[in-house]
Amino acid sequence: MAHLQEAAVKQINEICDRYVNEETPLMMILSDIQKEYGYIPLEVQELVSERTGISVAEIYGVVTFYSFFSLKPKGKNVVGCCLGTACYVKGAQNVIDKFSEILGIKPGETSEDGLFTLDALRCIGACGIAPAVQINGTVYPKMSVDKVAALIEQYKNEGEH
Ligand code: FES
Repeated sequence: MAHLQEAAVKQINEICDRYVNEETPLMMILSDIQKEYGYIPLEVQELVSERTGISVAEIYGVVTFYSFFSLKPKGKNVVGCCLGTACYVKGAQNVIDKFSEILGIKPGETSEDGLFTLDALRCIGACGIAPAVQINGTVYPKMSVDKVAALIEQYKNEGEH
């Protein structure tokens, strides 16, 4: 979606038009776009702005405020390492550093092959099993540095089926 193709423009306009009678349509429009494309880059925000009359600044504010909206495409597997207090005191920083080292990406980045995105998360409500890591919604308890490589392999292989 880097350079917006005609079909994408048409579809985004359609999504905007779906909520034309709503008083506050922005969240619904952005949710639909996020679901459809997996991310909402600036050029799409501009398009939504043109169509709805809502300012780009307001749209950008919403997209960056809510973590379920994304400005960049995410990888096939999204690895979220909790860096909340309980996880942090149990060594979460070392765990995320290990993911970073093996995947060759920093938190917030996606690997070139598109297989992995690495995210640093705030408390995910699993403090009792800290440090916690969440991959594609599945929570892995009591993570340690020496479990990281095997977990990455597991998800890499799943991608091959
Ligand atoms: S601090 Fe990590 S789950 Fe709560």
